[in-house]
Order: sequence, then C-alpha cells, then structure tokens
Amino acid sequence: MAIQAPEGTRDLLPDEAKFWAHFKATAADVFGRYGYAPIETPLFEQTELFVRGIGEATDVVSKEMFTAISGQNLATLLDGGTVKAKSRLSLRPEGTAGVVRAVAQHDLVPQGAAPAKLMYAGPMFRAERPQKGRQRQFNQVGIECLGAEEPSVDAEGIIMLMRFYAAIGIPSEATRLLVNSMGCEKCRPAYREAVRAYMAEHASELCDECNRRAEINPLRAFDCKNPGCAAVMEGAPKITDHLCDECREHYGAVKGYLDGAGVSYVEDPTLVRGLDYYTRTVFEVQVTEGMGSQNAIGGGGRYDKLMEEVGGRPTPGFGWALGYERCVLALQAAGHAFPPARRCDLFVACVDDSVRSEAFSLVQAFRDAGLAAEMDHQHRSLKSQFKLADKLGAAVVAVLGPDELASGQVKARNMRTHAERLVDLAAVRTLLARFGGEAVGGGTAPARIEEVFDVGEE
Ligand code: HAM
Repeated sequence: MAIQAPEGTRDLLPDEAKFWAHFKATAADVFGRYGYAPIETPLFEQTELFVRGIGEATDVVSKEMFTAISGQNLATLLDGGTVKAKSRLSLRPEGTAGVVRAVAQHDLVPQGAAPAKLMYAGPMFRAERPQKGRQRQFNQVGIECLGAEEPSVDAEGIIMLMRFYAAIGIPSEATRLLVNSMGCEKCRPAYREAVRAYMAEHASELCDECNRRAEINPLRAFDCKNPGCAAVMEGAPKITDHLCDECREHYGAVKGYLDGAGVSYVEDPTLVRGLDYYTRTVFEVQVTEGMGSQNAIGGGGRYDKLMEEVGGRPTPGFGWALGYERCVLALQAAGHAFPPARRCDLFVACVDDSVRSEAFSLVQAFRDAGLAAEMDHQHRSLKSQFKLADKLGAAVVAVLGPDELASGQVKARNMRTHAERLVDLAAVRTLLARFGGEAVGGGTAPARIEEVFDVGEE
C-alpha cells in the first residue's frame, strides 16, 4: 500500500489550508485590537524546559512528549555514555513554556515595563492515543500576557477568546465556559493536603493511577476519566472553600468583569487542567454537543510562578490556547463547510491549438492586471473547457478561436447570465495594461471583468 500520513496527523488540503490561513488572520485581527503581537518560537526546545515548566508528573510530560537526542553518537550512549541536558530535545507539546522562555531570554518585560502581550499559531505535538478531536500533531492558536497580575488581564483574555469564537462562526449557544481558581502558593498546599487526606480515606475506591497521583500531585485525580474515581472526587474538598483572601478577591474580580461584559460562565470547582503551572484563574471552553469526550476547544489560565520555574525573574502571566482542529469539528457540527480555495475570475478557452499561444499570453496579461485567470493545459474539447471554467467558478469565459483572432476579437460569455459579446482584443489589452499599474484586491475583480468585457446584466 502507498505510504500514509503518520497516525494522529492530518493533511490540510487546499480548501482547509486556506481556511486555516483565514482562521489565523481573524485571530490576528481580533487579538490585535487587544494589543497582542505575534511571536514565533522553535517547534522544539530543550526537554528540561517542559519538565520544569509543565511539570514532570503531568501526562503531557511523563507520557506524551516526542523526545530526541541530538548530536551524540548512539553507539557511545548504548555504551553507557551520558546524555547532555542540552542534547535532550522535545517537540513542543504546547506553546506557553517556549514563549515564557523567549520572554526571559530576550528580557521582553524589563522591570516597570508594560506587559508583553504575545500571540502564536502553529503545530503542537503530543504522543496521545489518536481519536476524533485528539491528534498527535495539532494546531493551536494561543496568547500569553506576561508582566501583570491584575484580574482585568484574565477577564480581557477570556472575553477576547469568546469574541474570537463568535468571529469565526462558532455560535455562543454551542459552547460552555467553565471557570475556577486554583489558589496560590499560600493557600494551595493546605488544599492539596486536604485532598490527599480525603483520597487516603477513599484509597480502596480509587484506581492505582489515582493512588499514585495522591502521592505526587493529588489534584490530577480530578481529571481521571475512570467513573469510580470521578464519583469519589465529586465529594472531595473544593478549592473554592480553601482560597486565601487575595485569591478569593482576584477570582471575584475576574467574574465581575465577565458579568459586566455579558459573558456567561459556569463555576466548576473541580476544574484543575492538565498542566502544573497554573495559579489562580483557570478556565476551559467546551462545546456542548456532538464532540464526544474531546469537547474542549480552548483553555488556559494564570501562571504567576512559571517564569521562576524556568529560571527567569518573577513575572506573573496569563494565557490560553485553542485547538484549531476541534474548532473545525465544532464548525462542521454547526453546518459550516470550507469555501473553495481556488479563485478563478476568468477562463480563456481555446477553440483549437492554433490560438494556444495567444491564449497563453492573454491569460498572463489578465494575471498581471490583478485578475485570477486560467486556461486549459490538457487539450480539452471546448465543451469540457467550459465545464472546467464552471467548476473553477469563473465569472467570464473568453473564447478565442482562429476566426475571432483573425479579426482581432475575442468572444466573452458571462457564465451567470450566459450573455455573449464580441470584444476588441486591442481594447482589452489596453485596459489590462492600465489596470496592471494598480494594486487590486479580489473584491474588485467582478467590477473589473465587467469593465473589460461589458458583459454584466443583460
Ligand atoms: P491545553 O488545554 O493542553 O492547554 O490545550 C489547549 C487546547 O488545545 C485544548 O483545549 C484543545 O482544544 C487543543 N488540544 C490539546 N491537545 C490536543 C490534541 N491532542 N489534539 C487536538 N487538539 C488538542 C495548553 O496547551 C496551554 N498551553 C494553554 C495555555 C496557554 N495556558 C496558559 N497559556
């Protein structure tokens, strides 16, 4: 069998690849209004960054990273040689750790500076078991705001994400926003202990993995998909009953801003997220129907300690990421289809091969004048050239035959009204030469074609 794409990856074919470009452009437009500017970081980083940043006990780091060893001789390693930390590289499973690393490395938030507001879009890699909505290479669009701990940053970021979903066509009735606070280094240790003690009381009802988690990071048990564990964790102590005054105040202010903006949410005290760096605000956006278990289309929160974890100066942070592929599934569930990628304003059809070189040069002149023009490259019959023009969505077909050419003319047909007109080739070329000097956007193409051929409404 022919070689297939690796399991858990997807090709974005032209219609979708064009939609992905539109998706990113819409993100840049919406987030730009909130002051976010793009950043690009490498697709791989030192493994150490993810271990320290995301947390060694998380599934993402302990089970799902694609890790490679670079620049060292395999034979030496097998011989008992050691791997230098710098040589252990992992494909990024998420974008936050890399952005925080870059902010520290380039000192993007010097003391007293305004926060750095950064956005990114691109592939992330997690060696998960693939299923609908869960891939090994998937695209995220994310934002990170570093340098401010005010709750207005959190609220603004969440509102911006909800505005983006609306802009891209995911109806707000189809989504649910869950919010919670994870507390801080002052109040979380006591809460973690309370959960650990509760889990110890229910050890016999929990799975082995959760009993292991109880020792390393008991809060992870809230994420266990095992129904028995989920039932036990329902009754576990709630973080919201253990927040310190500052965290309670911060959480209250975030909710106040959301209320003020008319963004509805559900408080979920069991929402802990799968990455260890969060402090205070955490949130997730889920699609309510038709997505199965992989229904989170975005999520994030505050991470005021992450910068120090990776060796930078204390710098509070907030951010989120959305999953592009899951947004597409949500859009498809809402009945959206990708518009065709290929644009064709005009098709030049050849009656026979004797006019081919004139057609070739005419097509080129249309393109140079800012129009999307196409011709046949396979010696098709005139009938099938029309079929092709129709398939490509051409507004006008210019038919070039030996007789027309001899009289210096071309026959133009409006594909919508079927009106036809003989047009002077010299006049067409003069007009095109004039257009050639001006920049044209796609939006002006129909008017421009009508100006050339005058084959509008009949
Ligand atoms: P995350 O919740 O792990 O957060 O991922 C964000 C989104 O990426 C998810 O809501 C989901 O839509 C999508 N996603 C995650 N894994 C997969 C997968 N295997 N296949 C398809 N889509 C997936 C983060 O990554 C954090 N870095 C977000 C953040 C930014 N927190 C603070 N700043």
